[in-house]
Amino acid sequence: MPGDPQPSSVYEAIGGEPTFRRIAGRFYELVAEDEILRPLYPEGDLGPAEERMRLFLIQQWGGPGDYSAMRGPPKLGARHLKFRIARPQRDAWLNAMSIAFDDAEVDASYRAQMWPALENLAWNMTTHAPPGGLPKT
Ligand code: HEM
Repeated sequence: MPGDPQPSSVYEAIGGEPTFRRIAGRFYELVAEDEILRPLYPEGDLGPAEERMRLFLIQQWGGPGDYSAMRGPPKLGARHLKFRIARPQRDAWLNAMSIAFDDAEVDASYRAQMWPALENLAWNMTTHAPPGGLPKT
């Protein structure tokens, strides 16, 4: 509607901090139960990892920059190098994040905009390629 304030970021458009809290919270609930993902996480308490994920996603989609204030530049590729992430881990990560987006009721049109970026990031975090390189799909 003319005159309605337009959200200035994806962060605002999908509901701001509470939505990202739901996404990260649900994602880490799933990680805690996932036999592929859980062994990768070094800390017994997943709470700090959940906070880092929430703050990163908020920052990535135009919200406050608390992630970088706390952690510095994301440099996610470098931060994932110490983990063995091959296709099964990537698929499990994307599957858990997809369920988290469902359960947080992220608006479908914004989700369609966000999802390719997440898939792309997940490809970039894949640290272990099979011989002959990664398949293209
Ligand atoms: C492809 C599958 C992936 C796996 C198996 C994976 C696994 C992990 C693990 C084990 C950690 C360490 C937990 C911690 O101490 O924070 C971590 C950290 C993190 N991951 Fe991933 N990750 C994946 C993809 C991604 C993607 C696509 C993103 C971006 C949306 C992401 C964002 C982060 C962030 C922000 C941190 C915390 C970095 C820091 O500040 O130290 N990860 N990940």
